[in-house]
This record gives sequence, structure tokens and C-alpha cells, in this order.
Amino acid sequence: MNTPSSNLPSPDANRLWSAIMDLSALVDSDSPGWTREVFSDPYKASRAWTLARMKDAGLQAHVDGAGNIVGRLPGTNPNAPAIVTGSHTDTVHSGGRFDGVVGVLGAIEAARVLQESGTRLTSDLIIMDFLGEEANGFGVSCVGSRAVAGVLDAAHLARRDANGVSMGEAVAAFGADPNQAISMAWNPRDIKSYIELHVEQGPMLERSGSQIGVVTSIAGIERVMAVFTGRADHAGTTPMDQRADALLAAAEAILTVERVGCGAPVHGVSTTGRIATGHGAFNVVPDSATIWAEIRSIDPGWLGGARRSIAEKIALDAAQRGVEVAIDLLNDQDPVPAAQTMQDTVAAASDDLGYSWEAVPSGAGHDAAHMAHLGPMGMIFVPSQGGRSHCPDEFTDKVQLSNGVHVLANTIRRLDLA
Ligand code: GLV
Ligand code: MN
Ligand code: MN
Repeated sequence: MNTPSSNLPSPDANRLWSAIMDLSALVDSDSPGWTREVFSDPYKASRAWTLARMKDAGLQAHVDGAGNIVGRLPGTNPNAPAIVTGSHTDTVHSGGRFDGVVGVLGAIEAARVLQESGTRLTSDLIIMDFLGEEANGFGVSCVGSRAVAGVLDAAHLARRDANGVSMGEAVAAFGADPNQAISMAWNPRDIKSYIELHVEQGPMLERSGSQIGVVTSIAGIERVMAVFTGRADHAGTTPMDQRADALLAAAEAILTVERVGCGAPVHGVSTTGRIATGHGAFNVVPDSATIWAEIRSIDPGWLGGARRSIAEKIALDAAQRGVEVAIDLLNDQDPVPAAQTMQDTVAAASDDLGYSWEAVPSGAGHDAAHMAHLGPMGMIFVPSQGGRSHCPDEFTDKVQLSNGVHVLANTIRRLDLA
């Protein structure tokens, strides 16, 4: 196909791969897999590396008040609204090397390709390494992109982790400025569009053999934390019908979470990712337990109803066991559709270069969901081997990654011409 974009040279797949491997060395060496959690020392060390990497690629780069790394490739018209891309470089505990990293280092590679091919954009290209995308110990995800989008607030900063530290304190200890983080919203007038490259983290592209995923929608996420308080008793002498067993109430709640998630008509999933109990012993009826669960769907109607049903059923079942339960419901994000114009642009950018693509929803959360507040949002997926993610086995090969960067660079060119 002969379009203005079809002659874009391929990225340097080896250069991109080496960058990903170099960053993957900057992790917590005491944890399995790849662990670079937000606010941790390895994460802090890695950010100096990423900043330097942006500067090496010819970007004007700095760290903003919320702790985001911001790189800018100036366009020819300083008054034109900017095209924004990027992702995150924090990981879950014992995670993989590609989730988020591909969107940051891939964007830097795309900026190199554009410069090396002599492409001068009209708009500035802004590349973001957003602070802390993964859900953290305060129950907050996407800290940096929420800040930029103007949806990080004082209530987020006031949330406390299990050690009683507030997120505002953690942000300040990390060297960012909590006050700026909740008052730095970008002006939508300055933003033309947001496009994010990411690994799929699921099995659909590998199953169908498509090289590129054009994201249609990002799932909404509702989180449930339930704290059960029962009564400690002798496990040998207390009759079964006279117990207030907090752990049994929690176990029943976990099954409720699963049952409700299985009932989703379109796309819906539910997970209890963590349980904690009190001291615990063979011979004591447990008096306390806490569960952390979430439900996700691209269908807002189902999601709201599922959250209510889970909370009501957990409370009812716990009451029948004589266990008290305090339920904390947190709306992490509503489902966010990708702009149709952005989906069309990514599809056309793939067609230009001869890559096969298909439309896919995202069950994972992304910074893109918040950046959608600022302008048209789109995402490009590349396949994940075996659909694995949030684990050390997460893998996407060099060629698949390079294809994704190629489409990203071409999408940016098309967005600039639009
Ligand atoms: C982030 O990866 C999330 O989907 O929780
Ligand atoms: Mn991610
Ligand atoms: Mn993730």
C-alpha cells in the first residue's frame, strides 16, 4: 500500500531488546522474578537510568512534581497540541520484564526511528514513564497518570498502607511533591491524543496469530477489602454451632467473589488476590481475617451490579456465622472505551506496514484509562507468550516487540498528519 507512512524503517530490534534487558537488571535482587515496586529503592535507581536513556535518545527529559519521567521531542510547531505516549516501569512483586516497560522503552525506540528516518513531527511528542501504575500497598494504581489527568486527589494521598504510612508521605519520601501531584492537571487543549504500546497480558493474540491488537476498551476495576471479626475459642471444646469463625466467613466470601465473576455475560473476571489472618494456630478458632478482592469488566452495568451483589452476599453470610464484617469498596476505574478514531488510526498504521491485527478488549488496567480524560486515547497490543503476565514467565519476543514499536511510530506519524 502506498501511503505516506508505508516507508517508515523498522525499529532496531536488538537495541530495544538490550534496553529491556538492561532495565530488567535494576530490580530487587532478594525477590524472585523481576520486582521493581513503586517507591522501592530499585525503582528509584531505575528511574535515573530511564531518564538518562531518554536524554540519550535526543529527548528533553525531566522528572515532574508527581515523579513522572517526561521526555519531549519538539515538533516544528510549538503551538500545536502534543501527541503523548508512554507507560510505566514499576512491576508487581515477582513480575515480568515487559509489562509497562515495553510502552516506555518502545516509545523511546520509536522516537529514535522517527529521528533516524528524518521524520520531523509538527506536534511535540511527549514520552511518559508514569509513576507507579501497578496497584500499590495503599490500594491506588496509576499514581502518575492520575496526577497528569487531574484525577488524583487528597483522598488518594490520605490512604494508608498496612504500616500506617499514608500515600502522601510515601510520595514525599520518594522525592516527589504530593501537593503538586494533586494540582498539576494538564490542560486537554495541549493534548492532541494519547497512544500506548503494551503487551497483551492475555492469550487472544497468540491464539489467533494476529501480530497486533487494536484495543477497543479498557476494563473497569472495582476493589473490595473485607475485614472479618469473629471470636477466638478453643478448637477442641467449642461446638461447631457456637462458633464465630472469621476465617470460614472469609473463605465463603472468596467463593462468592468467584461465583459472581463467573456470571458475567460479556467480559468479567473476579479474583481474591490476598488473604491475611490473625495470629492463627491449629487449636484456636480464628477471630480475624481480611481479604483483598477485585472484579473487572468492560461492561459498566454488570460491574456496578456485581460489586453490590458481592458486598451484600458477604455481609449476609458473615452475619449468619455471627461474624462482623467491615467492607471497604474502592472504585479503581470505570471501563474506558478507546476512541474510534484512535482504533482506526492504529489499524491503518498496521495495514500500511503489512501487519495483521485484530480488535481486542483489555482486561488489564492501564495509564491510558486515565489519559483518556485529556483527549482521544488508543492502545496497541503485542502478543504475550501463553498469555502469561504478572509473573516471571511473562514473555514477548524481539520481533513481536519490534513490530509493536513499528506500528507505534507509524501511528504517531499518522496522528501528526491528522
Ligand atoms: C495492572 O497491570 C492491572 O491490570 O492491575
Ligand atoms: Mn502495565
Ligand atoms: Mn501490570
